[in-house]
Amino acid sequence: MRQVPFHRPAIGPDEEREVIEALRSGWITTGPRTKRFEREFAEYVGARNALAVAHCTGALHLALFAIGIGPGDAIITTPFTFTATAEVMGYLGARPIFVDIEPDTFNIDPAKIEQALAGEAARDVRAIMPVHFAGQACDMDRILALARRHHLRVIEDAAHAVGSARTLAGRGMTRIGTIGDLSCFSFYATKNITSAEGGMITTEDDALAAKIAVASLHGMDRDAWKRYDSSGSWFYEIHDTGFKYNLSDIHSAIGLAQLRRADELTRRRQAIARAYNAAFGDDPALQIPVTEAGVEHAWHLYVLRLRTEALKIDRNRFIEILRERGVGTSVHCIPLHTMHFYQRRYGYRAGQFPVAEDVYSRCLSLPIFPAMSDEDVAYVIETVRAAASGNRR
Ligand SMILES: Cc1ncc(COP(=O)(O)O)c(C=O)c1O
Repeated sequence: MRQVPFHRPAIGPDEEREVIEALRSGWITTGPRTKRFEREFAEYVGARNALAVAHCTGALHLALFAIGIGPGDAIITTPFTFTATAEVMGYLGARPIFVDIEPDTFNIDPAKIEQALAGEAARDVRAIMPVHFAGQACDMDRILALARRHHLRVIEDAAHAVGSARTLAGRGMTRIGTIGDLSCFSFYATKNITSAEGGMITTEDDALAAKIAVASLHGMDRDAWKRYDSSGSWFYEIHDTGFKYNLSDIHSAIGLAQLRRADELTRRRQAIARAYNAAFGDDPALQIPVTEAGVEHAWHLYVLRLRTEALKIDRNRFIEILRERGVGTSVHCIPLHTMHFYQRRYGYRAGQFPVAEDVYSRCLSLPIFPAMSDEDVAYVIETVRAAASGNRR
């Protein structure tokens, strides 16, 4: 039986060569390769500044730190995300205000943001943190307009959004990374490009970039990473509260090789999504993802919904059947407000965000990684269709 895992990274000879060169170079932690990764990533998204960090979680934390988030502050975000999005708010004594998602894109619903900003808790809100779910950019025109009207910062959780873009009023098709105040990307193993672990923050604001550069390495001078190099100095000053979020040159070596392949990797994801959409679109038990007009979808995830009323089995059993037939899947996302921590710490409870809960109850994420062969894609299609047709009500 064929086995198709949920994910396998697309690591090839370029990544291997870059890593070996980095290992042999005599400099393995943050150094010239990380600086090059920053420059090339900035160029890729068209951003003025890009700062490499250890992971997107650290990027989000630094972004909130840089805009001055502190105890008592609140940030509006989506419950339909990975915990990192909201977890970092707690690092700074702030709290998430969740609002529900759009039923078609699963992105944060701007109309619900507007409602939240009219409510009682709005006085503490300092920022909006949209998540470009699955690689489909949020409606940034509406989100930016709300932010401007209410004097809020916009921190984009762009963990899924390397390669995604959206048409903006007055700007045309714009890559994610230059829209909000700060955008935070992930290079985790499953992401559209990977450095095994890693993240990047982009911003057009030089002052925020300078603050983050210092905060990401213990609050040291920006060039303190050079202190063991012949061009560096042993002396460093501590300027501010800092964290240990630097990215090593070994990770950056992988990232540089991946970045050069980013468009090719995105195109492969898009082709797989097209094949899935064509194969599942006419099945009465399957609901394919909706892509909005004016969006360049990066397809980090392919989230299929089951029309459970047309099936004798639920989502969990559907996943088990696929597993028994060698197809790995996952579920994105388990809504944060249904989790113990968010209920205990912030008082959230199940039932508050019905759209997110409905999507969660019926969704599964299919394998969509560039290293999949055409045979793998065909096998996933055949297996999903058979699981649906064999279990119709
Ligand atoms: C939406 C979202 N935000 C943030 C993160 C955190 O990324 P990292 O693992 O690079 O810290 C993830 C990771 O899966 C994510 O999916």
